[in-house]
Amino acid sequence: MQTVQDAAGLRATVRGWRSQGHTVGFVPTMGNLHAGHHSLVKLARARTDRVVASVFVNPTQFGPNEDFERYPRTLAQDQAGLAESGCDLLFAPDVATLYPFGAAGSVSLRVPEITDTLEGAHRPGHFDGVATVVCKLFNLVQPDIAIFGQKDFQQLKVIERMVRDLSLPVKVMGAPTQRADDGLALSSRNQYLSPQERAEAVQIYQTLQQMRDLIAKGHARKVVEQAAASKLERAGFLPDYTAIRRADDLSEPAEGETEGLVALIAARLGTTRLIDNLSFD
Ligand code: PAJ
Repeated sequence: MQTVQDAAGLRATVRGWRSQGHTVGFVPTMGNLHAGHHSLVKLARARTDRVVASVFVNPTQFGPNEDFERYPRTLAQDQAGLAESGCDLLFAPDVATLYPFGAAGSVSLRVPEITDTLEGAHRPGHFDGVATVVCKLFNLVQPDIAIFGQKDFQQLKVIERMVRDLSLPVKVMGAPTQRADDGLALSSRNQYLSPQERAEAVQIYQTLQQMRDLIAKGHARKVVEQAAASKLERAGFLPDYTAIRRADDLSEPAEGETEGLVALIAARLGTTRLIDNLSFD
């Protein structure tokens, strides 16, 4: 696997592949990779002839009190894991490559409406940063397909909407959430949890399953959402939201609607903020 830091090196390699008729898959990440990220690379590997991954801790998607500075940077370990998962090229640019005018001087994309709620409501500006950096990365890599985890469900929806609205020539694919044996969604932030918090964290997934089951039994959505929040609070979490939404656009379902829904939770446990979701079939 080759690693490049600069746009010219990336473009030269991708151009070479294209001239040989190869298709290109792309997996954007912020590094500190785990089996969830590797599953996206393996999916790209199965779908396209060549796979590019990026590792870039994107400053514009972190709020002022978030963990940009302390976000774990583990490039050597990430390189080894990516090579093993079948990645052909790692793009690991520095901030000046992606933001030649600095973060404050950069063009900024805003994907309206779908970002007003859930994560968007609790992390102002977060999805502007995500949309901006993903658009820049798409322009640099010019992949045929790009793969995003359903773990960040709203992010996937925001990217799908941006691609459609800007007519970007990329097929966006969602990939299933990889979980630890007890059900906790794999996340770079899990390592911030103390052993006791790690044991308790599984309650987020258990609560999502209960929300799904209660909706299937016909319970009112608002009651289910409130019961989930209370349960997490009693267990020592500080929930930002416990929500049931339509999976296609994250709008609020009507009472009695049971098809095509997703339950979403964001909650703080100690200093760590965890998110997870569960789609109902
Ligand atoms: P990051 O948090 O590193 O995640 C990179 C990709 O891995 C995202 O598509 C995310 O949904 C996926 N992912 C994370 N945990 C997963 C799990 N347990 N199972 C399956 N997929 C999982 O998301 C970002 O980076 C950034 O916002 C980015 C899109 C790179 C833009 O900066």
